[in-house]
This record gives sequence, structure tokens and C-alpha cells, in this order.
Amino acid sequence: MSEHTTSAASKVLQSVRWADEALDLLDQRLLPEQTVYLKLKTPEDVWEAIRELKVRGAPAIGIAAAYGVVLGTAGFAGTAEELAAEVRRHAEYLATSRPTAVNLFWALDRMKARAQALAESGVPTEEAIAALLDEAKRIQAEDEETNRRIGEHALTLFQDGMGVLTHCNAGGLATSKYGTALAPFYLALEQGIHLKVFADETRPVLQGARLTAFELQQAGVDVTLITDNMAGHVMSKGWVQAVIVGTDRVAANGDVANKIGTYGVAVLAKAHNIPFYVACPMSTIDLSTPTGADIPIEERHPDEVTQGFGRRTAPEGVAVYNPAFDVTPSDLVTAIITEKGIVRAPYDTGLRKLFEN
Ligand code: MRU
Repeated sequence: MSEHTTSAASKVLQSVRWADEALDLLDQRLLPEQTVYLKLKTPEDVWEAIRELKVRGAPAIGIAAAYGVVLGTAGFAGTAEELAAEVRRHAEYLATSRPTAVNLFWALDRMKARAQALAESGVPTEEAIAALLDEAKRIQAEDEETNRRIGEHALTLFQDGMGVLTHCNAGGLATSKYGTALAPFYLALEQGIHLKVFADETRPVLQGARLTAFELQQAGVDVTLITDNMAGHVMSKGWVQAVIVGTDRVAANGDVANKIGTYGVAVLAKAHNIPFYVACPMSTIDLSTPTGADIPIEERHPDEVTQGFGRRTAPEGVAVYNPAFDVTPSDLVTAIITEKGIVRAPYDTGLRKLFEN
């Protein structure tokens, strides 16, 4: 990794950081207008922050939840066995905050397993509490390294001068650093490879406009914002040579859940013969979910659609359907890019193999 590489991604605000026995969390709802860090002190604070999208993006949700478990152990005075039970209780509660991103459950399972191992090793409670904080910090640090590797693999698929379209925000703000889908853009910038990025604004909560356009612009990446319904037009002009998105969960057969609208982008990419790439850490791959139809899709409040940013844009009382994610079937996915390398169809065997070696 070059010094330059570090500096490009370092221009992006850190979404989650541990400080003074509390979780400092960037309130992503307020971006790009305001940069406000909230001080979260309880698992309940973290639960609410995840539910209300103050922190969002699959890896960042997992990291925040791991720290949420740690917050629940503050001042705990029972045995290490009792601590493990307390950790399980907080983890089960935090797991109810949002249903789709599997990284949430992955991180919570990891915290539960660590607490159980500590209890079995017979360490004093105070030491176990410190070790749980270390585990949450490790989850965060590993995510950064993982994303850098994803970026390196992804960049092998791009050439200088290409136009690349992305949907939602799978960037530094959604992770501990670099992002997944946006990681190659930061690496390209530092290596002098010019990519022209098109960012879909991403209705209804505008993660593309408020977050992706913001963080790429801050870092100096060539980014052009378009509304979601412009993607087909931009592709038809010949301006897009690849699509890359993140994901909240990859099923065992390679079906991919991501922000609502991703499926439409994949269909458009297919129609224009443009490769459609998905970038994710292995913690997003869920071999216990057989197909996309088995992925729970979160539905959110109708207000996001009818009066998302303080102004009513639809009649009161109108029926609204507001799923936060959709599923892109694996036959529309050209490749899945992980920290361990690039997987192509057939995905059932390719994804399984990733975990075998
Ligand atoms: O509702 P959000 O903003 O949490 O949705 C986020 C996404 O869909 C991202 O693309 C996904 O979590 C990958 S983040 C690296």
C-alpha cells in the first residue's frame, strides 16, 4: 500500500470510533450538510442509531453492534460465565435492529463466541470485559484491511478512462475505511488511473447523493451524480463500462441483496452488455441462506417516500410500499469480489470454496 493510497481514503470521515469508554458515531442522516458525532453509551443508543440509519452500511452496522455489546458490559460485576450470558442478551437485542445485512449477525455471533471462550478459560471478569473491547476493535481493524484487499482485486477489472456506475453507498462511510464497491476508486486515484464514477442518487433516502457523492468528492474522485432514473440513459450513451455495488447479504447460490434499485441497475447493465460486479467481505456471504428468496427484506416507514426530507411530496394517506432492499439474481452478477479474490459463476461451488481454503 502506498502512502498516497492511505491518504485518499483517509479524506473520508470515519463513521464509527471508540473513545473515552463510549462510541463516537457519525450521524449519517445529517450528511452532507452537517458533520455531527454522537456519543453513544448504551446498547439501546446503538440499537436506535442502527434502526434510524444514523449508522448504516452492512460492515459499519456490524462494527457498531459489536461496540454496542461492549457498552452493555460496562461496570458488570458478576462472573465471566454470567458476563457471557449478559453478552448473549445484548447481542440478541441488538440483532433486532435491522434484518437484512448479515454482517450484523456475524459480528454479534463473534462477540458471543468470544465471551463464551473467555468464560471457559476462567479469566477474571475485568479481563474478559477488556478482551471483549479488543474483539470489537479487531472486527473494525480487520474490516479496513479486508476492504483494501477487495479494492485491489476490484481494480484489476478496471482500466484507465472507464466509466463506472455505483448505486447506494458502499464506501468508507459504510465501513471502517475504503468501503467495498468504492475501494477501487480510492486505489485508482492514488495510482493515477482515471475512472469516471456515476453515482445513482438512490431513492428514497439518497445514500448515493448524500454519502457516495460526498465522500468521493471529498477524496478528489471524479464523480457525477445522477438520479436513479437516469442510469439507463447514461448507459445508452456508452458512458458506463462497468457497474460495481456493495451488498448486505449474498446467498449460497450467489443471489445478492442490496439497496432497493440495485436489481433494476443489474437488468439495465445486462441490456447494455455491461459487467455487473458486486464487492463484499466474506462476512457478507451467508451460506446458510440458500437463495435470495430466503433473505429477509426490511420494509421501512412510508414517510421516507412521502416526506423524506421535510417536505410532503405525496398525498396524505396514500398507500406506500417501501422495501429497503431488493434481490439481484446471480445470473445477472458478472463476478463477486471478496478479500480472497474474485468469484464467478457457478456461484454455489465458487462461494463454498472460498471458505474451504
Ligand atoms: O440501508 P443502508 O444504507 O444500510 O443500505 C446500505 C447498502 O445497501 C450498501 O450497499 C450495503 O450495505 C453494502 S455497504 C459496504
